[in-house]
Amino acid sequence: MNPTVEQLKTKFQQALIAAFGTDYAAADPMLVPASNPKFGDYQSNAPLSLTKKLGQPPRAIAEKIVQQLDITDICQPPLIAGPGFINLTLKPEYLEGQLNAIFADPRLGVAPAKNPIRVVVDFSSPNIAKEMHVGHLRSTIIGDCIARTLEFQSEDVLRLNHVGDWGTQFGMLIAYLREAYPAALTTQDALDLGDLVALYRQAKQRFDEDQAFQETARQEVVKLQAGAEDSRRAWQLLCEQSRQEFQVIYDLLDVHLTERGESFYNPLLSGVVEDLDQLGLLVEDAGAKCVFLEGFTNKAGEPLPLIVKKSDGGYNYATTDLAALRYRIQQDQAQRIIYITDAGQASHFTQVFQVARRAGWIPDNVELVHVPFGLVQGEGGKKLKTRSGETVRLRDLLDEAIARTRADLETRLKEEGRSETEEFIANVAKVVGISAVKYADLSQNRTSNYVFSYDKMLSLQGNTAPYMLYAYVRIQGISRKGEINFQQLGSDAKILLQEETELVLAKHLLQLGAVLSEVEQDLLPNRLCQYLFELSQKFNQFYDRCPVLQAEESQRTSRLVLCNLTARTLKLGLSLLGIPVLERM
Ligand code: ARG
Repeated sequence: MNPTVEQLKTKFQQALIAAFGTDYAAADPMLVPASNPKFGDYQSNAPLSLTKKLGQPPRAIAEKIVQQLDITDICQPPLIAGPGFINLTLKPEYLEGQLNAIFADPRLGVAPAKNPIRVVVDFSSPNIAKEMHVGHLRSTIIGDCIARTLEFQSEDVLRLNHVGDWGTQFGMLIAYLREAYPAALTTQDALDLGDLVALYRQAKQRFDEDQAFQETARQEVVKLQAGAEDSRRAWQLLCEQSRQEFQVIYDLLDVHLTERGESFYNPLLSGVVEDLDQLGLLVEDAGAKCVFLEGFTNKAGEPLPLIVKKSDGGYNYATTDLAALRYRIQQDQAQRIIYITDAGQASHFTQVFQVARRAGWIPDNVELVHVPFGLVQGEGGKKLKTRSGETVRLRDLLDEAIARTRADLETRLKEEGRSETEEFIANVAKVVGISAVKYADLSQNRTSNYVFSYDKMLSLQGNTAPYMLYAYVRIQGISRKGEINFQQLGSDAKILLQEETELVLAKHLLQLGAVLSEVEQDLLPNRLCQYLFELSQKFNQFYDRCPVLQAEESQRTSRLVLCNLTARTLKLGLSLLGIPVLERM
């Protein structure tokens, strides 16, 4: 909670006891932000909610509370309004004190978690030998932001990449390699398998057309499972090459993950099925072993099974997730496990969670969360495709964002008659281009679909990365021009809030901690984006009205502090979105 609200809450609780006795010690002061700034900053609805219990009219209750309320350090005298609300307006002196405190704090007043817990964030998780697609891009960007936010809050975060590196598709791929690239099974050296996506397609075609090949592929799975050296060799080659391709994307995005793919849990799968069996949860259905789910039915209203061992003896995606879940709790000691995938997998996770709960694997202090997200769409809400109609490769998508940024930048430099080095241009293009893609994703409520548009995300106007980065650059320009060294201003810099725009900006600056704890709770990065966007707007309104470098001495220092706090808040907030700032652009 916001420290101001926390303080006010305590004061209200004391006033309630003083006015009505200890019976009211647990009464909720019902403090909410004011619905309209003209009523002040906060409002208490307690008088209305206590009317019945006290048998008194709300305005009379409000008067009694106000008489006992000792908040002169924090607020202007409270006002009773309407049927009996208590309206509160923060005092400028109080805000000045709070700003001084955050100015002196490298964490900008955001307290780290009191009792940090271990959190697993399972994100990105592409599949070997398949293309990493825009869905994985969303998972990577959202997961990284969530991990960064939790890390900043001092939680103990394990960023896990649950790559799809196991399963029957490898039988097909290895059988195909045996025919088309026999060297892949024997060589000890690195070997370029060419385009893996094409390879996958060819293998699949062979598989679909040829019965004998299907049989070879099945045997290949068995060999791989049994650890046959040549099959393993081919599997490793496939994984290694995919890994390198994924790494290019992670490097571009500056995202770090620990790979712990599906294969890691392979030795644990039989144990999972045995334990479910011992617990009496397993039912055999058409040769497959499954758990019948509660609350899931088919069209005929019959309970739906979650298969954990297929009739051919193989295990599947759900079995692996059950094993992973148990491992993360028992070995990793995770207390919160967060899965970031497209909304299409929501029922998969509900089912896996249900089975794990019924098996008694989830202690009460462990929270399991699936964080779903919507689709990335092309223009007109259609599937995102290249002009020639193919699926967009992530590498190309990111490169295009960088190239377009560069073109815009070069035009702007020409217009402004500026000449910059190639190094400067390349760096700005990369930072702005990648940030624009990230921000466009994070600024949407993740549960909705969004339309991918370079024009929109690269615009210098609106709720975009370039707009935000530019606000930061503008502030850095002020301190450069005034040759200000903020370290030297120290904590004795007196802050004075006089103009309305200064007060509005100050109040917004003090909300960062509350916003971050919301993001930590709801795992909705768009709240942080919205906060930063409003911060930039409030800063611009302040800067339009209030001269900074030209102001007289006392005001000048105070306004410089506001500029510096805005810049630091932007820098910190953007860093949690995975966006670095630029000093010039
Ligand atoms: N590999 C999966 C996919 O591409 C995502 C895995 C998500 N994580 C998990 N534990 N199931 O759809």
